[in-house]
Amino acid sequence: MAKTIQAIRGMNDCAPTETPLWQWVESKVRGVLANYGYSEVRMPIVESTPLFARAIGEVTDVVSKEMYTFWDNDEQLTLRPEGTAGCVRAAIERGWIYNNEQRLWYMGPMFRHERPQKGRYRQFHQAGVEIFGIPNAEVDAELIILTARLWKALGIDQHVSLQLNSIGSLEARANYRSVLVEFLQQYTDLMNDEEKERLVKNPLRILDTKNEALQDALNGAPKLLDYLDDDSREHFAQLCSLLDAMNIRYEINPKLVRGLDYYNKTVFEWVTSALGAQGTVCGGGRYDGLVEQLGGHASPGVGFAMGLERLVLLVQEVNHNIPVENAVDIYMVYQGEGTTVAAFKLAEQIRSEQPQLRVMLHCSGGNFKKQFKRADKVGAKIALVIGESELQNNQVVVKHLLSGADQQTIALDNVIEHLKTEF
Ligand code: HAM
Repeated sequence: MAKTIQAIRGMNDCAPTETPLWQWVESKVRGVLANYGYSEVRMPIVESTPLFARAIGEVTDVVSKEMYTFWDNDEQLTLRPEGTAGCVRAAIERGWIYNNEQRLWYMGPMFRHERPQKGRYRQFHQAGVEIFGIPNAEVDAELIILTARLWKALGIDQHVSLQLNSIGSLEARANYRSVLVEFLQQYTDLMNDEEKERLVKNPLRILDTKNEALQDALNGAPKLLDYLDDDSREHFAQLCSLLDAMNIRYEINPKLVRGLDYYNKTVFEWVTSALGAQGTVCGGGRYDGLVEQLGGHASPGVGFAMGLERLVLLVQEVNHNIPVENAVDIYMVYQGEGTTVAAFKLAEQIRSEQPQLRVMLHCSGGNFKKQFKRADKVGAKIALVIGESELQNNQVVVKHLLSGADQQTIALDNVIEHLKTEF
């Protein structure tokens, strides 16, 4: 036998037995987004590399070591590691946000060259929202309220919690950065090489270190919230009071800074303890400077993205009430001279007149026994059976595969009417 070729590490197939759950999760996401009047956009999976370098930041993990980048003649291209940069690029290029508000969402694959483990993959899927043109805290609150509604719809609301922080304006962060670096310099002996590098290039990222000794030391670190500019402080207070009024529980986490450089003011993450190390199911925040930084007319932005693999895993873990549906309602069984065409015609007629029904026609020959076995295997509720005598008498036999009720013989002309009593 020829040698088989395997999938790329960290890039998964979705089996036919898994797609119903994925579709269920995706339909809940689409439903809630429609509930808020948001519009779907679709962007290319490949963008020019400098877009990500400029938007996400050269020194972030994503840009410095996780991008799938290649040359296309003399242009450097990258498989999108996230959706915000491409959405902002499209919004500027297509004029979606010029003097306009937009509430947009997208869903699709993203690519990061990370070390694969449960909940962390090299190709993964995000559903994301980006809102442009609204600087107010109301919209930050709306995004969080929307996600809370989605968790309820997915049956995972008891298993996720909200972490919230404000990282203020660029200037406030620059002030804080120098205070933080001064503080951290006492602890360089606790730092590994990567953290020492971060101390120079991106010290705020040390706040969310996994290094426990350093975490302890960080409990005494100066807090970014104490260095906020007035505008950011008011924005954050308003957001918190709206969330309080809407009964959304949150924890203010002064160490939450997020791994992408474009944020200012609000940042948030929804986390779960049910998935092990990869517990962040959704992350986002405000990015008021990004549109201008990418060459557009200044326009505030705010958004989030959730990891669909993590949501599917969490739903599997904690929600055991998902309606599981078989893919097939009716299995067409036939045997004997002339019955093939009769079965094809009847199947097509049902599909036209009862389009909500899922009809599968047996195509691989064999006797009735073999055909009924297939019908059972696909989980069909009933089989419609045409043998030579049924064909002669213009009749069909209805066999109840799931309920075990007696079989019935009905006139071909009455099949459509009869099906209304079955489903
Ligand atoms: P992010 O935090 O990098 O933010 O990713 C958002 C979510 O995508 C994560 O919380 C996680 O659920 C999922 N995710 C990230 N990497 C992986 C991976 N390797 N495998 C599986 N799931 C993963 C962003 O991407 C921002 N663009 C979010 C945003 C939109 N901020 C403003 N607007």
